Amino acid sequence: MTTTTIEKDTLDAVHTDESQIAVHWKEEEYYAPSPDFVKQANLTDPSVNERFAEKNFPQCFEEYADMLTWYERWNTVLDTQDPPFWKWFVGGKINASYNCVDRNLALYRNKAAIVFVPEPEDEEPQVLTYQELYVRVNEFAALLRSFCGLKAGDRVTIHMPMVAELPITMLACARLGVIHSVVFGGFSGEACGLRAADSGSNVLIYMDGYYRGGKMIDHKAGAEIAVATAAKEGQKIDKVLVWKRYPGKYTSATPMVPDRDFFVDEILKDFRRAIVDPVPMDSEAPLFLMYTSGTTGKPKGCQHRTGGYLAYVTGTSKYIQDIHPTDTYWCMADIGWITGHSYIVYGPLALGATSVIYEGLPTYPDAGRVWRIAERLGVNIFHTSPTAIRGLRKAGPDEPMKYNYHFKHMTTVGEPIEPEVWRWYYNIVGKTEAVIVDTWWQTENGGFLCSTKPAMDKMKPGSAGPGVPGIYPVIYDENNQEVKAGSGKAGNICIRNPWPGIFQTIWGDRDRFVRQYYAKYCRDTKSKRWQDWPYFAADGAVQAGDGYFRILGRVDDVINVAGHRLGTKELESACLTVTEVAEAAVVPVVDEIKGRVPEIYISLKPGYAANKEISDKVIATLETMIGKIARPKRVHIVPDMPKTRSGKIMRRVLAAISNTLDTGDITTLANPDVVEQIRITVQGKEKLAFREGPEDLKQFGTQE
Ligand code: WTA
Repeated sequence: MTTTTIEKDTLDAVHTDESQIAVHWKEEEYYAPSPDFVKQANLTDPSVNERFAEKNFPQCFEEYADMLTWYERWNTVLDTQDPPFWKWFVGGKINASYNCVDRNLALYRNKAAIVFVPEPEDEEPQVLTYQELYVRVNEFAALLRSFCGLKAGDRVTIHMPMVAELPITMLACARLGVIHSVVFGGFSGEACGLRAADSGSNVLIYMDGYYRGGKMIDHKAGAEIAVATAAKEGQKIDKVLVWKRYPGKYTSATPMVPDRDFFVDEILKDFRRAIVDPVPMDSEAPLFLMYTSGTTGKPKGCQHRTGGYLAYVTGTSKYIQDIHPTDTYWCMADIGWITGHSYIVYGPLALGATSVIYEGLPTYPDAGRVWRIAERLGVNIFHTSPTAIRGLRKAGPDEPMKYNYHFKHMTTVGEPIEPEVWRWYYNIVGKTEAVIVDTWWQTENGGFLCSTKPAMDKMKPGSAGPGVPGIYPVIYDENNQEVKAGSGKAGNICIRNPWPGIFQTIWGDRDRFVRQYYAKYCRDTKSKRWQDWPYFAADGAVQAGDGYFRILGRVDDVINVAGHRLGTKELESACLTVTEVAEAAVVPVVDEIKGRVPEIYISLKPGYAANKEISDKVIATLETMIGKIARPKRVHIVPDMPKTRSGKIMRRVLAAISNTLDTGDITTLANPDVVEQIRITVQGKEKLAFREGPEDLKQFGTQE
């Protein structure tokens, strides 16, 4: 499944082609959507398969673009002149803020657009109607334009928690054509500063604080670090705008810096009743950047276009999420991730739905919180991740039954879901009434790639399903050969065709874009035919005889922690900033709730002895440089790293030890003896029986 590159002068690593490893798992039984769901569903017409068949590509995607309101219609659906930099709906002019806000006023002016649920349960939910959203987006857009001097094409970095002001900020940017770059609120100030510098933002938008687990977090504290980090990278931040969690009351202990930091609620007073005409943007104008981890240390800014992206998320929200304007839709993801952008903000609002945003944690103050919110707001579409489902199941397996809510539709996204967990989701959370879609996709993709069509395809626990309309996935092995459905073999899942939601490029790094996603399976780099440029997703997958794809996990150096991508190299470079650390290696380990979490191996510089302080320092550094999400399960201080004769750290050996898997052949290492020493440090003296590890862990590090 992964490239087993073997250097000619070294003899390590396994000599099997990983793509040939047969994968055995039990075929699960099918579940059919309920007749009640089918009766009301948006997508039931079987002609969809024909409409989106390859012979109708790329015109098929006009069906999605036609769901939007354009200033000018496009003249070319797909332009392939500069592969693989595809252009969609070329010549079209559109504004995303207009489509998510203004155009809903006619029918839904005083219908809820956003419901914000504060963490403290004695604070009532706050409802923003489309009219109210319109007013607030306009006023804030006026502030951005006049007070900050921002205009189309400028970048702004937004580091905010889950509050209604976050989509207001994004939509205000989009109104002006300003490219927003939202950094997940849980990331550190330093992570924010690096991203702000990479994107060339000179305005940062913050919030003073927010509730999490019963505590008010001082979020503004991060702004100081972000500004300093950006400065170190050569990027000056001129203004930091600070929203207040409670307007009129500053909750942070961090001082405001005069002439740099400004309270939004105070400045907004000058922009009351302001109306800002949405700027008609080229279809191909970037709408936002979303940073994600990849195979090198530096996070990459995925650049998403306006027209194609909005069309794709709107179409998939309608057909796969089954969103109607009358639905109350709750996606529990954070808006700071792509799921939140596409399926809390842009897709649902473009369809005029009510989108719920909640503050805090799913299981605080108790395991009933999520179900209380669902009951209170009458949520009927629910969207979350396997990590959240596992956590909720563990904290309160019978809790959902105590509440009177009814979901018609539920989504799982972000990681593979175990069939056992899927069944709990279906039987207990969904009360056997709700259809489930397991949607597979990535930050780079804008929207869903594989999923069942909720009213048309049967569900199969643990399988994402076939490609969604207009997406033609394929599995290739390492020799560019197609791995056939039903062969029982795993390989690299690729998408044969472009689609409107695919990102435009990596911000400022066209070469890396081509190298990372297209070089591997490109048939002819001179070709201008899209057919020669399959998109490489870096996920392993198997396709069953029925055409359903089962996603196994990443084949590159990315660890999927609770559905969030962390680059191992990113974590390793953070560890290396600790004075005592000479070498660092990060591997994924199985975690009952989060799926995978990082585990760290470090060796020390001469003259230092292993002690707990050093491990604590490593943990603290990861939290400061990246965020709490990077907190490792354990830190192991080892005498030396297992290395090849050419000096490369064999992370696959460490991953095997951490997960009690077979370490395989280690005789060709430069220092085979250290492996047993490390094993004892990690597992104890007594030899443990190897486990039949999950596929992604067996593959981890085999690319080295
Ligand atoms: C994984 C999240 C199994 C996959 C939208 C992918 C999944 C990475 C699924 C992207 C799923 C996402 N089943 N695995 N339904 N959905 N993944 O960029 O490894 O944060 O490459 O986008 O998550 O994570 P990202």
